[in-house]
Amino acid sequence: MTQHESKHMQAGVVGWPIGHSLSPRLHGYWLREHGIDGDYQAYAVKPENLKDFIRSLPAQGICGVNLTVPHKELVFPFLDYIDDLARKIGAVNFVRVEDDKLYGGNTDGYGFLANLQENAPTWRPTAGPVAIIGAGGAARAAIVSLLEAGVPEVRLYNRTKTRAEKLGQIYAEYYDPARLKVGDWVDLSSGLSDITLLVNTTTLGMKGQPPLEIDLSRLPNTAVVYDIVYNPLETDLLRAARERGNVTVDGLGMLLYQAAPAFAAWFGQKVKVDPAVRHYVLKGLEV
Ligand code: ATR
Repeated sequence: MTQHESKHMQAGVVGWPIGHSLSPRLHGYWLREHGIDGDYQAYAVKPENLKDFIRSLPAQGICGVNLTVPHKELVFPFLDYIDDLARKIGAVNFVRVEDDKLYGGNTDGYGFLANLQENAPTWRPTAGPVAIIGAGGAARAAIVSLLEAGVPEVRLYNRTKTRAEKLGQIYAEYYDPARLKVGDWVDLSSGLSDITLLVNTTTLGMKGQPPLEIDLSRLPNTAVVYDIVYNPLETDLLRAARERGNVTVDGLGMLLYQAAPAFAAWFGQKVKVDPAVRHYVLKGLEV
């Protein structure tokens, strides 16, 4: 029997470099929890080898993969089908193999929103404007999920304004342009006075990176502050927000929630994002 015909199911995460990924630990937990005969491993694949690797998934008997930096954008031409959400976000974070065809999707936007809804359950998308800091891939997942959820206005602030403006142009094709406004980096603090949610999608505040320097004095204390960084779990931004009474949301839940639908698609098992899995994955940050 070939690996493909056997019941053992193989999945993984593809990146370059890949050493830091918590995904094998996370999926490994759910595989064991549900007694599934499967495995999830990290694949270090150079960008120049991505096409060959992805096209050979069916032959390798791999039922699907997650994609991480820098492959989320590079993988587009190598897939047979790509769903609308992944196209809007401009990134594919998971691939599913079915009948030897490769299907690309994106669960980052789902993970972003599900984490927000769990940790700030009273926040309502339609209640007012939100501010997003950053204009990279993570910002795109946040923008799309918030606009799809009905947020009336997203204010986008990025150090390099032209990058944010580029996103404004892209999303004018899908949404009313009045709903996505690009602000000047220097006006960030003054743009917070009437928002319901502040999101950091940059790498600032991550271990080894400088903190995000921001004046929160105008931020309403009813606003939620969400940092997609999860190492450390409480960034300087979240600590400052918590100390002034804002509800805060860290980035670990986004990692957990984006993984759940991909796991279900590959292994046919719905999984829960609960304190036990969160605790287990968190331990992986310490090793
Ligand atoms: P990802 O796809 O994970 O979002 P990315 O594309 O590298 O990562 O984007 C990183 C984001 O962090 C960008 O918005 C970047 O701003 P620029 O477009 O100006 O580069 C932002 N960023 C990184 N370092 C920063 C810094 N020191 N100050 C302000 N913004 C920074």
